Amino acid sequence: MDTQKSKVMVMATTLGTDRKFRRMLPPLDERQYNSLKADIERHGVIDPLVVWEEKGVVLDGHNRYKIARELGIKVPVLKIGFDDEFEASRWVLARQFDRRQMNAFQRIEAVLKLYGDEYARRAQRRRVEGGRKGGKTSRAKEARKGRQGSDKACEPFHFNAEVAALARTNTDYVSKVKGLLQKEEKYGRYIDQLRRGEQSINSIRFKVDAGERQARRQRFLAEKVVFENTSAVENQILCCDAMEGLRQIPDESVSLVFTSIPYNVRSKYGNNSQGKPIDDDRPWAQYLAWLKTIFLEWKRILRKGGRAVINCDSIRTRDSDDRGRYFKRPIVKDIDILMDEVGLLYFDDIAWVKKNVRNNKCQWGTHRSPQQPILRREAEYLLVFCKDQWELPCITGQESDMTSEEFATLTSNVWHVPAETRPYCPHPCAFSEPLAYGVIKLFSWPGRHAADGDWVVDCFSGTGTTCAMAARLGRKFTGIDASPNFCRAARERVGKELKTRKAEGQSVTAA
Ligand SMILES: C[S@@+](CC[C@H](N)C(=O)[O-])C[C@H]1O[C@@H](n2cnc3c(N)ncnc32)[C@H](O)[C@@H]1O
Repeated sequence: MDTQKSKVMVMATTLGTDRKFRRMLPPLDERQYNSLKADIERHGVIDPLVVWEEKGVVLDGHNRYKIARELGIKVPVLKIGFDDEFEASRWVLARQFDRRQMNAFQRIEAVLKLYGDEYARRAQRRRVEGGRKGGKTSRAKEARKGRQGSDKACEPFHFNAEVAALARTNTDYVSKVKGLLQKEEKYGRYIDQLRRGEQSINSIRFKVDAGERQARRQRFLAEKVVFENTSAVENQILCCDAMEGLRQIPDESVSLVFTSIPYNVRSKYGNNSQGKPIDDDRPWAQYLAWLKTIFLEWKRILRKGGRAVINCDSIRTRDSDDRGRYFKRPIVKDIDILMDEVGLLYFDDIAWVKKNVRNNKCQWGTHRSPQQPILRREAEYLLVFCKDQWELPCITGQESDMTSEEFATLTSNVWHVPAETRPYCPHPCAFSEPLAYGVIKLFSWPGRHAADGDWVVDCFSGTGTTCAMAARLGRKFTGIDASPNFCRAARERVGKELKTRKAEGQSVTAA
């Protein structure tokens, strides 16, 4: 920008204007305009109009200019030089923000209206010129390709930050305003309220989000898919091999798979319905290949956004070397690799800290010695994966059944939940009810009627903890286990839950 040149008196009619600068700021209302006009009639134009020297157009003082033209009088003019329109615009905005009492919404709107396009062009130019979008990876990529952008080109261009700096607000505010302005037709009423400063941006965003959630729910309800042939396996405990049971579940019908996989540690699960021992001691490679076939079936049955939650200990699985010696092995990493291969996305993980396992003190190994201490396993993992996207759309038309307290507790990635505490449990490694209860509430939607919620599947259901909690929470469920004994216990347990619901007056479908 040049330093200011000279102040001269000229006839207003000899000056030009540019629509872009004229429309840049909200116009004066009628009362303000008339009052300004009366003042100019009495005293003339006192403050000089600012004119862009190279272009000869008015940058500042459009109302005074208009009134002076109407009155046919001379106006004082100050000429200032600018390199380009972008620089001239920045100057005008900064000056207007100093003078006028504009709220943050109005300031952002003015900045976006004026050079939103110009900013987008500059950002694009920096990328094309060999710059990076930001982040080390892009810079490394550029280096590998042997491209060296100019210093300027390599600076990341933060659109919202630039707008925020000029509008004298923060980037969060800018992104919220941008979102609203993109849907101006729909949210015109809210935008007017913000312009008038009658509402805060956060209260408007809250209303918009609530409305959009409601609309999404209505849309999903209208498109609700009716799955065929589901009744045979819905709300059932299937006594068969996991693969055989999973194959009976239709594609993309399930919202949540929650299970504790067999760890391949030679657990004694007893016999299957053909009288053969349930295998929990496969060679390591075979075990992983088998797990992969199970995960592939999960991917098939999960709907878009559906979650697969695996409960497992980190180092319980053992591998053997060529001399048959067993080693501990962290199964967590294998599961993650398998999920990657299968195409389910990592969502998050939770540490399940068991409150009540400290009594097992004999597992300390060498006492007070670093020779070979043994760590007490007081925590396990819940590994959460999802299909295709993070969001699980609601297809049941029902609000979440989580209380605020539950939501606050369940969204921590450390859950303090006791291990199984029932006085008699026929299973060697059942997980506890509060654990399944929390997973189902956090990761699936309830139904409009009892037992009409999202479909929850546990393909190693043991004594049916997942299914019993799904029944308690009004979700549909399917449990699969190879052991007839565990299945019997599970059916009994689920039956009790359903009976309780019935006694409480909630409709249920029979197990
Ligand atoms: C870790 S336990 C699950 C316990 C269950 N979460 C509970 O709370 O009772 C694993 C279960 O998988 C079952 N299982 C093992 N291999 C199986 C297979 N190939 N098909 C079906 N179930 C199997 C076992 O019978 C066992 O009950």
